[in-house]
Amino acid sequence: MKVYDAVVSRRTIRKFKQKKIPLGILKQLVNAGRLAPSAANLQPLKFIVVTKDEVRKKVFKCLRWAGYISPEWNPSEGEKPAAYIVIINNLEIAAQGHFERDSGAAAENIILSAWEKDIGACWLGAIDRKKISDILKIPKAYIVDTVIALGFKDEKPDAVKFKKDCRYYKGKDGELKIPKRTIREVLSRDKF
Ligand SMILES: Cc1cc2nc3c(=O)[nH]c(=O)nc-3n(C[C@H](O)[C@H](O)[C@H](O)COP(=O)(O)O)c2cc1C
Repeated sequence: MKVYDAVVSRRTIRKFKQKKIPLGILKQLVNAGRLAPSAANLQPLKFIVVTKDEVRKKVFKCLRWAGYISPEWNPSEGEKPAAYIVIINNLEIAAQGHFERDSGAAAENIILSAWEKDIGACWLGAIDRKKISDILKIPKAYIVDTVIALGFKDEKPDAVKFKKDCRYYKGKDGELKIPKRTIREVLSRDKF
C-alpha cells in the first residue's frame, strides 16, 4: 500500500476481530513510532505494548470510546482490542511546548503502519491517565499521553462530506460515517 493510499483510506476502528496481533508486528509498530520526527530530536517518548489479558482488561476500563455517540460505539465483548500501545512522554526530557507534537507524530506513524497491515487502530485521548499510570507502573517523570487500541478490523467506517456538523454518526448501513471538511473548504493559495 502506498503511503498516500494508507493516509486517505485510514479511518478510526473501534470494533476488532478477536485475533491476536503477532508480537513481531507490534514491535514494528513501535519502531515506526520510535523513528517519528521529534522536536530538537530529544525523543522523550517510550511505548508500552499491552497484550496480556489481565492488563488489557484493566486498561480497557480507563478508555472512553466515540464520545459523540457514547455508549453506542463502545466495543462490546467479542469486539475489544487485541493490544494497546501506550505512548508515554518524559517531561524531564521533552521540549517545552512541543512534547505533544512528538507523541502525535509517533501515534500517526504507528496507526498508518498498522493500517498498511490491515490492522485497525483507535487513537484514544479521553483516558484516565492516573489509573493507566498505576496499572502500568509508570515512573513519575512520565505522563501518559495517548493510548492506541489495535486489532484486526471488524467494521468499515466511511468518510462522508461535511455538512455543518462534525459529529460522526451511524449510517443506514450500520457503519460509522465520519464527516470530513472538503478540500475546497480547507485549501487556499498564496493567501487565506
Ligand atoms: C488527539 C485525539 C484524541 C482522540 N481521542 C479519542 C478517544 O478518546 N476516543 C475515541 O473513540 N476516539 C478518539 N479519537 C479518534 C477521533 O474520534 C477520530 O480520529 C475522528 O472522529 C475522525 O475519524 P477518523 O480517524 O476515522 O478520520 C481521538 C483522535 C485524536 C487525534
